[in-house]
Amino acid sequence: MGATEQAYANEAFSTNWVSTVGPNLNAFEDAMFRRIGIPAVCLASGTAAIHLGLRLLGAGAGDEVFCSTLTFAASANPIRYEGAIPVFLDSDRGTWNMDPGLLAKALRKRSKQNRLPKAVIVVHLYGQCADMDPILDICGEFGVPVLEDAAEALGATYKGRAAGTMGAVSVFSFNGNKIITTSGGGMLVSANREMVDKARFWATQSRDAGIAYEHSELGFNYRMSNVLAGIGRGQLEVLDLRVEQRRAVAFRYRDAFADLPGITFMPQAAYGYSTNWLSCFLIDPAAFGCTRDELIEHLNQADIESRPVWKPMHLQPYYSDCEAIGGEVAADLFARGICLPSSSSLSRSDQEYVIDRVRGAAMETASAA
Ligand SMILES: Cc1ncc(COP(=O)(O)O)c(C=O)c1O
Repeated sequence: MGATEQAYANEAFSTNWVSTVGPNLNAFEDAMFRRIGIPAVCLASGTAAIHLGLRLLGAGAGDEVFCSTLTFAASANPIRYEGAIPVFLDSDRGTWNMDPGLLAKALRKRSKQNRLPKAVIVVHLYGQCADMDPILDICGEFGVPVLEDAAEALGATYKGRAAGTMGAVSVFSFNGNKIITTSGGGMLVSANREMVDKARFWATQSRDAGIAYEHSELGFNYRMSNVLAGIGRGQLEVLDLRVEQRRAVAFRYRDAFADLPGITFMPQAAYGYSTNWLSCFLIDPAAFGCTRDELIEHLNQADIESRPVWKPMHLQPYYSDCEAIGGEVAADLFARGICLPSSSSLSRSDQEYVIDRVRGAAMETASAA
């Protein structure tokens, strides 16, 4: 957080615009429009944005919705909010994102069976864009809309296009752990302004025009607060710096481990510019000397928090009854993947400490063998 964020938030206090209406909301949405070139609506969370996005795409009870399996649960949960049916798709080993070839095969098969999904939720994992051209081509061929879950990818690009501008509807998250934050919050964006306006209407309880509290549609309390939008305005001004900081952290780890066997950096697709939201590596236990879980425990002993890569949705107890198309790649990435401390505020000396401990884990096990 910086002085600008504070100034915009203070403005909300001093002018008493502390609710879900006010100048910061408009200004934050306008600033996002200037940044990515399409209309935006500020919402209470990225999850709320996915929920309204699915409603905009007409996904309802009994409809199937395809979704990347390797992601955080918030990508998929809104499918269930609407009574729709998630179908999880495996990752491509080269990007860790939804496998476009697998998607194409699945859509062709579904088309023959006359049961195409209502939408496809494509996640840009850890800030790296999925390979959108083949995904958009095949979805376009069958008229299936794409919802881009760019929660982790604000600031990323795909072949020069901004993450979040390629799907029919896209979402960003400003959760506390994201590239930029409003403490909690999200945005829905779309080139279709009517959709964005509709989401804003639903997010403010679908109150019809006029002074009476009249409602012709189901509503939600999903709007962002004007105070938090002030924080978001300030944060958006430093987005590029934050992305550079995240990338610098990730590439410092990559370089520091280049000579270590059995630890491999998440592949960086040549088509895009990743935010490297989290610095992720794969551990090959035989070559590295210990398993991913042993490494996590070793780091934990040194007071360093690290985490496994997301547990795929098709392996979640809650989604155990859902269909998975493939899943072995995501399961392997989960079994061997680790996310190291990646904050844009991670100091050089703290990162050196993490690097030393990771190298220590490899050396210790090598000398014990
Ligand atoms: C891929 C992904 N989708 C959706 C979300 C949900 O965003 P929020 O926490 O703002 O609801 C998150 C993060 O929390 C995420 O990482």
